[in-house]
Amino acid sequence: MKYLVVGSGGREHVISWRLLNDGSADEVYVAPGNGGIEEKYRIDVGVTDFEGIYSACIEKKIDVVIVGPEVPLVEGLVDYLQERNVAVFGPSARAAMLEGSKLFAKGIMKKYGVPTGQYHEINGRKAMLSHLDGVRSFPIVIKLDGLAAGKGVGIPENREEAITFINTMVGEDTRVIVEEYLEGEEASVLGICDGETVLPCVAAQDHKRINEGDTGPNTGGMGAYAPAPVITAERLERVRREVLQPTVDGMKAEGFPFKGILYAGVIIKGDNIQVLEFNVRFGDPEAQVVLPLMEGKLGDYITAAIKGKLSGMSLSFKNSHAITVVMASGGYPGSYDKGKVITGLNQVPDDILVFHAGTKREENNILTSGGRVLNVTAMADTLRAAASKVYNNIDLVSFDRAYYRKDIGHRALG
Ligand code: GLY
Repeated sequence: MKYLVVGSGGREHVISWRLLNDGSADEVYVAPGNGGIEEKYRIDVGVTDFEGIYSACIEKKIDVVIVGPEVPLVEGLVDYLQERNVAVFGPSARAAMLEGSKLFAKGIMKKYGVPTGQYHEINGRKAMLSHLDGVRSFPIVIKLDGLAAGKGVGIPENREEAITFINTMVGEDTRVIVEEYLEGEEASVLGICDGETVLPCVAAQDHKRINEGDTGPNTGGMGAYAPAPVITAERLERVRREVLQPTVDGMKAEGFPFKGILYAGVIIKGDNIQVLEFNVRFGDPEAQVVLPLMEGKLGDYITAAIKGKLSGMSLSFKNSHAITVVMASGGYPGSYDKGKVITGLNQVPDDILVFHAGTKREENNILTSGGRVLNVTAMADTLRAAASKVYNNIDLVSFDRAYYRKDIGHRALG
């Protein structure tokens, strides 16, 4: 089988690694890929260049396309390829609205009884500022309705912070959700969906803040681990039954069956499980810990999901623990330099996997080309042993102003 994975991050590198390593694929192309992908398997087209992606499918005789990031999903890449008879894994543009519009997602949750925080819909800066006059307690959660590359959520602790967020992020026509602030511990549960059946993956926990102790600005994710012990087996079954399945049933009833990965970002407090957000794709860096733990062939689940045949299949995970630590460019998530030479990649022991994100090849060098650069990943019998493997070896790899968090997994490690 020949696969084409669309995207350029660590998520797309781990998907291609997994397909090749579990025997799902003979060849995996990645568009546009990164420095971790062998040059002959990189296709130099952008993720929203639908025509270019389709041409690559024809030229390389691709059997199945897997779409990694949200932007081409929301813009309709799956619909475009399906209309041209290309087998593709991911939701249609209508189904991708679960991530593309937070108001749409809230509406589905409300209609189909999926537990989530109370919210108000507000249109535009002026209305938002006058809503703020009536707010008596902080923090509150302000979310922009559309995709915002991880920058669309503000959690102001007081009125001044709220005004700054509104003045910076909310335009005259911006649709906004104001949501109650929920306390608890967060986790990510990814479900493989075929429009009717959902197979949940082992739960992961992401670390979104740049600094240790989960402080500082939000990022795309500075590391992750799985399983996340906050999601016990009983809670995972509840997430399937109370969150993923009713959402998939609801989407089918609305006429937008959901195929692909439904990612539920949940928050747990006591017996309470509530949804903070849906994404419509593998999480990044959650995929870097979930996929190495998966048993069986990823390609079997992908092709069954595309054909609507997941019913009767089961998904299991190794009795092991995985952790990934992101090496980022100094300055990220603010401005940072690119083009730094990365050294030491060939000194990393074989049982450590280094998935590339913001890297590129130039002559014989691998250079940095983004904020999140590498995902240093290990598995072991315990999370502590997996973390030691990563942290004992991560400094073998270096580049100027490399930064990583030293406490990934801290909630589980105590
Ligand atoms: N790790 C968060 C995300 O993939 O959106």
